[in-house]
Amino acid sequence: MNIVASPLAEFPPPVASVWSTRTAHRRTLAVGVIGPGRVGSALLDQLRAAQPRLERDMGLVLNLCGVVASRRMWLDCDDPELNARQHRAQTWRPNDLDEFAAHIRGNEGRHALLVDCSASEEVTARYPDWLAAGIHVVTPNKLGGSGPLERWHAIRAASVDSGARFRCEATVCAGLPVVQTLRDLLDTGDELIDIEGMFSGTLAWLCNRYDGCRPFSALLREARALGYTEPDPRADLSGIDVARKLVILAREAGLPLSLADVEVASLVPSALAELPLEDCMQQLHELDAPMSAKLAEAQVGSGVLRHVGRLDRDGRASVRLVVLPATHAFAHARLTDNVVQFRTRRYRDNPLLVQGPGAGPEVTAAGVFADLLRIAESLEVRP
Ligand SMILES: NC(=O)c1ccc[n+]([C@@H]2O[C@H](COP(=O)([O-])OP(=O)(O)OC[C@H]3O[C@@H](n4cnc5c(N)ncnc54)[C@H](OP(=O)(O)O)[C@@H]3O)[C@@H](O)[C@H]2O)c1
Repeated sequence: MNIVASPLAEFPPPVASVWSTRTAHRRTLAVGVIGPGRVGSALLDQLRAAQPRLERDMGLVLNLCGVVASRRMWLDCDDPELNARQHRAQTWRPNDLDEFAAHIRGNEGRHALLVDCSASEEVTARYPDWLAAGIHVVTPNKLGGSGPLERWHAIRAASVDSGARFRCEATVCAGLPVVQTLRDLLDTGDELIDIEGMFSGTLAWLCNRYDGCRPFSALLREARALGYTEPDPRADLSGIDVARKLVILAREAGLPLSLADVEVASLVPSALAELPLEDCMQQLHELDAPMSAKLAEAQVGSGVLRHVGRLDRDGRASVRLVVLPATHAFAHARLTDNVVQFRTRRYRDNPLLVQGPGAGPEVTAAGVFADLLRIAESLEVRP
């Protein structure tokens, strides 16, 4: 074990509250956070700030019992006084996901929940076992919802059998209520016609700004400098991330889609596809002619270019750049906003829209936190 600096040291201990003494409805949830990176750290901050209010107003105690990163982990049993300390010291031991999950679960039948804020296959592969063991799982990691269909079925089956919940709202448009909106529509008996959306904030920003005055490659460089793109902007231009979101929504809607079923029109020219990142950044001008042709096509009909993911009730899914009329709802999205439009039997002529910032650690962590609270609200009181 070693001692290193960590913001965890300021996590407050559960406080004895009015709720704890006056009511029998006090519930405690043991929480383990996997991946204290950008989203995970923001979540730890939000949990820390909300704890006294949740305990006071809801009788809910969120007991942070462990944090695990790619190589090391902290368990509260190693350092029982940690929460009371303020000097930022932290005791860590080597990463062991199985030991971590067993510790969060405990032996006394307590309510336990793991939050996976990594992007790790190794972590995702364990969801079925964790759920089968009765541990709730919440995540912004898209690999569970959009990975192999077999694993998705195993996740669902384990959840149904054990009663442990799996929630992944933040995988689609971060903190925006997209997955929950779809669930609410379907669970209340509505019928899906289609979902269309601008699911990539990066491509929304690029399409909003691209008017032909500057080459597309110059805008892409600017977006990268502003931190709007992935370090390798081909990850955004390929459309795969949007395809993953469609797969997640499709499966939520009961359609057994896989990534290979989504028709994706990548914006990465073949000349750039295989280049090392540095060479690709030198050759970005390869994008300019094809993008200029697409813009000209849009301008002929006074339309706009938008990057749109579409899923219909028959499971047809596509991701591509399309020309839309200037009056379309997607033509007025701002900056890096995501917009998702649900057409259903009830919302056929006037579709239901969800719009707002769809990325960033704070809003993503808030989406994860909201999932955690939905599960916490449904917990029965246990001693
Ligand atoms: N950032 C956003 O705006 C956003 C929006 C929507 C969804 N998401 C999703 O949220 C997740 C987290 O994103 P992020 O931006 O916070 O990533 P990040 O900053 O790279 O953090 C990832 C964390 O996961 C940890 N990790 C990696 N492999 C692990 C393993 N095998 N076991 C335990 N921990 C492991 C890393 O540990 P080390 O610290 O040791 O490297 C790191 O703490 C991703 O799935 C991402 O797709 C992010």
